[in-house]
Formats: sequence, C-alpha cells, structure tokens
Amino acid sequence: MDQRLTEFIAACDKLAGGGQDAGANVAAIAPLMLELVRAGRSLLDPDHLREDPEQYARNAIHVGEADGVSLFALVWLPGQWTPIHDHGTWGVVGVLDGVLEERAFLPATGWDDADYYPLTPGGIVFLSPGSVSTFVPNPDHIHVTGVPEDREPVVSLHLYGRLMNSFHLYTPEHASRRLIDVPHYESS
Ligand SMILES: [Fe+2]
Repeated sequence: MDQRLTEFIAACDKLAGGGQDAGANVAAIAPLMLELVRAGRSLLDPDHLREDPEQYARNAIHVGEADGVSLFALVWLPGQWTPIHDHGTWGVVGVLDGVLEERAFLPATGWDDADYYPLTPGGIVFLSPGSVSTFVPNPDHIHVTGVPEDREPVVSLHLYGRLMNSFHLYTPEHASRRLIDVPHYESS
C-alpha cells in the first residue's frame, strides 16, 4: 500500500481512538483527507480501482476492527448510484477523479415511530476532484450518491468510523427502511 495511505489510516485510527465525539473526529480528519486527495489516483493500487459494470464498486483499502475506522475506494461508472441510505456512523469523503453527486433526503415528519420513515428531498452537492465532505450521525446523513449517465467515471475515498458493512436502505414510497448488508471487494 502507498505510504501516504498507510500514514493517513494510522493518523485516523489515532484520532478516532481518542474518545472524541463524531463532530470532533470529522473536524480533525477532514484536513488530512483534503491533503491526501491532492495526490490523485496515484495513491491507489490496481486492486483499489476495480470497476463493476453492474454496480458501483467498493474496494476495501483498510478494514479494521468492528468499531475502528475503515477506508474504501469507490469506483463509479456513469449511471451508477447507491440506493437511498444512511451510515450509522461518521464519515469523511474525498474525490480523486470525476464529479461525485450527492442528493440528500430529510425526515418529512420526524421519526417518532421506528417503523415509519417518510423522507423529503433535500439539497444536492457536486464534489469535484479535490473536494472533501463529511457527515455525522444522530440524525444520520441520508442520501443517494452517484454519477449521472452523461458524466465521466468517479473515483472517491470514503473513511468511516466503523466497519462499514451494512446500512439502512430507505424506500420513501413506503415510508420505510430496512438494514441490509453492503458487500465490498477485498484488496490483496
Ligand atoms: Fe453515503
């Protein structure tokens, strides 16, 4: 693995292990991600750049303990999007190539009933190469992320405060959500 990635992961592990709250973690790590993404895709091994014609590819760079940080390189081909999802943790996203689009959703009526999750569309953000965005949970950041058909592919780095192997998938037309497993490719 590239030494810059190794050092970034070690720094994130140290910061996140300090018992700070989520806001303090993303505030400390976002500048490190901003510095990291300046290097572009030269940071990544071929394993981190795998594409999948069926869906956006999640390539693991670092998968730590269940409550430790994890880092993925995501490769998005034109027309590939996530479902509407949350994260169950904090995160820091940086873009290496292309323009990643994020479309946010907001709770429409509050979430007093655990089985009722009506959503209304929120804002849209375009993340160009070099851009960094962050999110914290409670309330969680709910969005779809991806690339429209008429744009170029995207490569982005996603640092999470946990082993990111599941999230809630939201279905606004039914005002419901369910927890699903989220697969990834391992790196050698
Ligand atoms: Fe997300």
